[in-house]
Amino acid sequence: MTTYEMLIGGEWTKASPRKTFDVFDPATGKVIAKVPEASPADVDRAVKAARAAFDGGWRDATAQERGRILFRLAQKMRDELPRLAELETRNSGKPIVESEYDLTDVATCFEYYGGLATKLHGEVLPVPDNAVSLALREPLGVAGQIIPWNYPLLMAAWKLAPAICAGCSMVIKPAEQTPLSLLEFARFFEECGLPKGVVNVVTGFGPTGAALVAHGDVDKVAFTGSMEVGKIIMKSAAATLKKVSLELGGKSPNIFFADADFEAAVDGALFGVFINQGEVCSAGSRVLIQRPIYKKMLDAMVEKARTIKLGSGLDRETKMGPVVSKEQMARILKYQRIGKGEAKVAVGGGRATGKGLDKGYFVQPTIFYDVNNSARIAREEIFGPVMSVIPFDDEAEALKIANDTPYGLAAAVWSRDIFKCFRVVKRLQAGIVWVNHMQPTYVEAPWGGYKMSGVGRELGPWGAEEYMQIKQVHINLNESPIGWY
Ligand code: NAI
Ligand code: MG
Repeated sequence: MTTYEMLIGGEWTKASPRKTFDVFDPATGKVIAKVPEASPADVDRAVKAARAAFDGGWRDATAQERGRILFRLAQKMRDELPRLAELETRNSGKPIVESEYDLTDVATCFEYYGGLATKLHGEVLPVPDNAVSLALREPLGVAGQIIPWNYPLLMAAWKLAPAICAGCSMVIKPAEQTPLSLLEFARFFEECGLPKGVVNVVTGFGPTGAALVAHGDVDKVAFTGSMEVGKIIMKSAAATLKKVSLELGGKSPNIFFADADFEAAVDGALFGVFINQGEVCSAGSRVLIQRPIYKKMLDAMVEKARTIKLGSGLDRETKMGPVVSKEQMARILKYQRIGKGEAKVAVGGGRATGKGLDKGYFVQPTIFYDVNNSARIAREEIFGPVMSVIPFDDEAEALKIANDTPYGLAAAVWSRDIFKCFRVVKRLQAGIVWVNHMQPTYVEAPWGGYKMSGVGRELGPWGAEEYMQIKQVHINLNESPIGWY
């Protein structure tokens, strides 16, 4: 078993006091590593290191230099991919094939922002005076970044890459359940050219994150996680008026009209909510089906759901691994119980047992049907393989149900009628909308939520913008006095 240290100011360090916590393999329930539990004093040390790095030269690093570092990080990720993908699976439970996709996306994310670094620039404004007016883009300074456990290294990359691109320094905290892939990857930061202290990694639970959010010398906080913690973060950040970006998940509708391609619909509904054990912020957890195909589609989904192969994520045949932790399993089992009182069970509804499953945190892929949109399983984020199927009659009713949620991260609509699809797209209150697909996303495109699903956007140029501030510069070209007094 490995005992890890954290990275502060380019040095590997223990927590002070020297506390550690256990990290588990969710497929077996066994402890696989020990990791430092950073105190507020450690967080303060990390923020000071980030500030020192920013003021000590990083703020003057050229865009080309920052871009090259990002390209080296991308190449390193590709070189280390098999080993890190295995570690990601061992720690998070997700199928190895999904870890490989995730880490390929990590490399692509570093490459994208490597290229973008030299394309970020300010503007020259045509003001009505004999002057040059400029809008300069400058890095915000020190960023605090708080990461969830569902896509450990990918969510870290979505925050590290744009911040490095923009020229910030940062303190990043992985989730307590899944810190290992980031700690391993951080070993390569220096050889990829990142100056000491530009990226600091602190490990710990909620209070470690809270210390980072409250810190007076952090200029911006980027968070992905629960709506509940998002609210706490926004409140805490108000005391120092730091900039905040939040990605808070959802209860996304996946809408199927009767004229959709049937086979694609069945597959798309299952993929939308069962991929990554349903631990996906944009999971299509509410499946809305038009009445003419309701029964037929439900039956076809159930038949396929029964064939989903559960097991260790390290087995290449596995389509669904364990959920991330004992707590998350308990949360899902609780919602499965709640659902049985609110709707009908078509398949699943409990813990998954059997050979190779009993020690791990496995839950059955579960489909509830005849769900009313006011039920708790239709309103609250479960973050597990639990689908709520809701019937509808027409376009207007589908939209009403789809938008009747405090969340607004994602949505999807399936139909062969492009007119209907685009009418629905325009009315959906969601930051990401798919037509005849659900889940694929690209670093080029914006990611973030409407309504209570979040604040700000990640990825693309929008992601870098979150780490910059704008400076107006007015250069007077009149040599004579203003002539006012
Ligand atoms: P969480 O929101 O508590 O944890 C996410 C991250 O925030 C972790 O790094 C955690 O250490 C940190 N954190 C926790 N409390 C904090 C605080 N007061 N200040 C600063 N940082 C803090 O999520 P949790 O408890 O692991 O999962 C609960 C539910 O949250 C899930 O069932 C799911 O519904 C939702 N969730 C949504 C995610 C998304 O992608 N939007 C990701 C993870 C969880
Ligand atoms: Mg929590």
